[in-house]
Amino acid sequence: AIDQKVEALLAKMTLEEKVGQMNQYTSDRLATGPLTPNSSKWQEIKDGKVGSLLNVRGAKETREVQALALQSRLKIPLLFGLDVIHGYRVTFPIPLGEAASWDLKAIELSARVAGREAAASGIHWTFAPMVDIARDPRWGRVMEGAGEDTYLGSQIAHARVRGFQGKGLGNLDAVMACVKHFAAYGAALAGRDYNTVDMSERQLWEVYLPPFKAALDEGAATFMNSFNELDGIPATGNKHLQRDILKGKWNYQGFVVSDWGSVSEMVAHGFAKDRKDAARLAVTAGSDMDMEGHSYLPNLIQLVQEKKVDVALIDDAVRRILRKKFEMGLFDDPYRFSDEKREVKEINSEANRKASREVARKSIVLLKNDNQLLPLSDKYRKIAVIGPLGKSNADMQGFWSVKWDNDRLVSLYEGLQNRSGKQTELLYSKGCNINDTSRAGFAEAVKTAQQADVVIMAVGETLDMSGEAKSRANIHIPGVQEELIKAVQTTGKPVVVLVMGGRPLIFNWTAEHANAILFTWWLGSEAGNAMADVLYGDYNPAGHLPMTFPREEGQIPLFYNEKSTGRPAPDGKSTPYRSSYLDVSNNPRYAFGYGLSYTNFDFSDLKLSKASITANENLTVTFTLKNTGNYAGEEVVQLYLQDPVASVTRPIKELKDFQKVYLKPGESKTITFTIDKEKLSFYDQQMNWTAEPGEFRLMIGNSSDHILLKDKFELVD
Ligand code: IFM
Repeated sequence: AIDQKVEALLAKMTLEEKVGQMNQYTSDRLATGPLTPNSSKWQEIKDGKVGSLLNVRGAKETREVQALALQSRLKIPLLFGLDVIHGYRVTFPIPLGEAASWDLKAIELSARVAGREAAASGIHWTFAPMVDIARDPRWGRVMEGAGEDTYLGSQIAHARVRGFQGKGLGNLDAVMACVKHFAAYGAALAGRDYNTVDMSERQLWEVYLPPFKAALDEGAATFMNSFNELDGIPATGNKHLQRDILKGKWNYQGFVVSDWGSVSEMVAHGFAKDRKDAARLAVTAGSDMDMEGHSYLPNLIQLVQEKKVDVALIDDAVRRILRKKFEMGLFDDPYRFSDEKREVKEINSEANRKASREVARKSIVLLKNDNQLLPLSDKYRKIAVIGPLGKSNADMQGFWSVKWDNDRLVSLYEGLQNRSGKQTELLYSKGCNINDTSRAGFAEAVKTAQQADVVIMAVGETLDMSGEAKSRANIHIPGVQEELIKAVQTTGKPVVVLVMGGRPLIFNWTAEHANAILFTWWLGSEAGNAMADVLYGDYNPAGHLPMTFPREEGQIPLFYNEKSTGRPAPDGKSTPYRSSYLDVSNNPRYAFGYGLSYTNFDFSDLKLSKASITANENLTVTFTLKNTGNYAGEEVVQLYLQDPVASVTRPIKELKDFQKVYLKPGESKTITFTIDKEKLSFYDQQMNWTAEPGEFRLMIGNSSDHILLKDKFELVD
């Protein structure tokens, strides 16, 4: 029935009105890219020349702007899009942090709350999830994705789309997801944002595309293309990506929005002569909506009249856009999401804050805990909080968050105050700024530490150090923060270091010398409370890294599922005439999948249902997991496979499954995994998705570099 309505409306539309639907502007108030002044915007909406706006928010404001569109001849409602990346009014941990939870239900919950809040505030469409695989921590946008692994990233893509879209488009609490950035944006050369991407078709299909397919399979409503070129062709003008793969092979029925200005940027790429040429190339390649590119509206009509663009392509794009507007119920009631009463009820509720705290504590990764310093014991009556992030509220929100005038963000210090009670005295010293070279505050910090029983240090990045256009060539903890840690450590007091930031950071001295380390990302509204939960053991940390932490920038790109090479270096050590470095080992500081707990888990009794299977059979793998420590807690059990000899070389290990398991002290459980042909398959020399007969190695552990159980099996014809 929707298709008939779309056709009926399309038949009434002039070419100008059709092109209007393909045009998206930003509101003047909030910008998420460089602004192209356009004061006639509001008149253009009334003239039916705008299909969507981004960066309008709030029930009142969206209502006012929607009213302009309803003055147009055909009264086609606008779609309101916004970057609701990790929370809307209540902020959740940055997506990379949430990925560290390996907790798909928690990740879905985060997106659900964000979707519900945004939908109650007039928003129809979020530009999320970002599903770009990222193997280079210099790239600032690693914070917005799920990390380096295709399998984990694909599971998270499912969870996020489910969360945003809830029970489906048309429900009042669901926003349309937008899977981005199609494609391969995360592989920018040298980790420099917007930079060139060049990769084999095999790597594209095997590593970078599966999370997009997963999101599509989950019913993602829209896609965004990307700023980068791929193999010489900008993604926005890339027919292979958008028409052959996405709308062809994958039969995607939704629409593709460009990234901000990415249509016009094809001129700077050296791919289009001018904006008109860019419009022709983009629409031909399958980009349906021009976000702030100012290329479609001024040029498409003429391009059709000159027969340089077939009107069938315009009709196809407009059909896709209108269909979503119908599915969202906007033709029944264009204001249905802009309800001020519902907005007040839904957003910033205590329940939403509770959900944020829950997800935040699950995102924290315990990297080190010598002599079980954590959880903090009651004997510590005087606690010194030291470091430039100790009292910071604003940074807890992280990049890509929606800013509000009266944000309530809990700092570490406030979280400790809330938790520690009257018997505990909290001291504080900033010590230094995040990113300058002054050591003037060190003496006072040391004095403060001397007065305390235990020191909690808060160091890392400010919220504007990781994000879009926030690439860094040096990813060591900025400024003199690590020197501050050294100075404080000389007091001999027990030191817990909390590292906060949006990407894997380097802190080699701290890794070797601090007594305990927690990596806390940017955790959102309830950051301080979540950190206090973990520090005091009210919650036993169970996060595991979704990205490799290198020792030095020179190792980048560094990821766990690399290939062997013809001259592998034993244990990754520097070895003459082997694939290694003279000055640093091949091994990371912290591997993908790594994360500790306050308790210990024992892995034993691995059993495979068979020694060999055919392609039609499944293999059942079981083992026993036991909590042998003193705290209840969760373990992330990870299953890796290797195909050691194949017609195309395969990685040394690949994550193929995982489970997050909760056990009380002394409790044990039988864990079961099922291996099917899909998990054994790869793209062969002809790019067929195949599982080749032969031996497979199976590895189970709690980190990619901590394998505790191993076995082999055969795939037979
Ligand atoms: O959604 C974003 C995109 O990821 C980067 N450029 C701007 C868009 C809209 O804000």
